[in-house]
Amino acid sequence: MEFNNLIVEITKPIAVITVNRPKVLNALNLATVAELGAAFTMLEADENVRAIIMTGSGEKSFVAGADINEFRGKSAPEMFPFAKLGHDATRVMESMGKPIIAAVNGYALGGGCEMAMACDIRFASENARFGQPEILLGLIPGMGGTQRLSRLVGLGRARELLYSGEHITAQRAYEIGLVNRVFPPEQLLDEARKFATKLAGMPSHALKMLKTATNSGYDQTLDNGLVLETQCFAHCWSHADLEEGTGAFVEKRKASFHAD
Ligand code: COA
Repeated sequence: MEFNNLIVEITKPIAVITVNRPKVLNALNLATVAELGAAFTMLEADENVRAIIMTGSGEKSFVAGADINEFRGKSAPEMFPFAKLGHDATRVMESMGKPIIAAVNGYALGGGCEMAMACDIRFASENARFGQPEILLGLIPGMGGTQRLSRLVGLGRARELLYSGEHITAQRAYEIGLVNRVFPPEQLLDEARKFATKLAGMPSHALKMLKTATNSGYDQTLDNGLVLETQCFAHCWSHADLEEGTGAFVEKRKASFHAD
């Protein structure tokens, strides 16, 4: 598959998706959002890939939001496909069985923050900046920011960011739970790769069950979430990895998990 706005590199078992529009700080135009959905769908199906890193090209920006030049002057109906493609791409990211790490290497604003939030784990460089500045343009987020931010950091903090449009530092993002780990810029990708490699070595079926139970369970009542957990828990018995993992434990050897 050919991409005009992304670089997709696969070094088995890790894939790295780099948003590559450096002249506009990797801002997302419609074509790039469509390519992101297609790239994640492709990587979900690729058996050489067990974990994915998403980052931005250059040292200044992960993704500086939607491409303002492209959407300026458009009508609401003309913008629906943008929001729809954004929602589709982020739902692919959340529903696929493989873990996705955002390596946030600079500005993660608007759609950039929204894409990072759809990843499973967020690592950031010390120079990263997060925010939902849409309000400053007379707009609100359209790729999940009004929903995912409060789920990650709580409603009060989410509203503070959404209402003010303020940027926050990587350190502050770490303190409020938006970011998992912060690194010096030169270490960010190596650390993301190290963690992706660790996750790629995990029993993939159990990891998929964890992703399903935590993502789908999050929006349900506790009782329904516990039912879902029981289903995912039971599903682990359908896979050889459980026999291998428990066998390795009792035999005091390193487990060798299934490739799928
Ligand atoms: N859409 C389109 N172009 C963008 C962009 C965006 N979201 N963000 C940055 N750019 C472009 C700038 O227009 C500029 O282009 P130019 O060199 O042709 O003038 C280039 O990227 C560099 O940006 P610049 O503003 O000069 O860099 P900076 O370091 O002074 O500021 C930001 C960086 C990210 C703080 C600033 O560009 C910004 O606020 N961007 C918009 C963020 C935003 O509102 N996102 C949500 C959109 S819904």
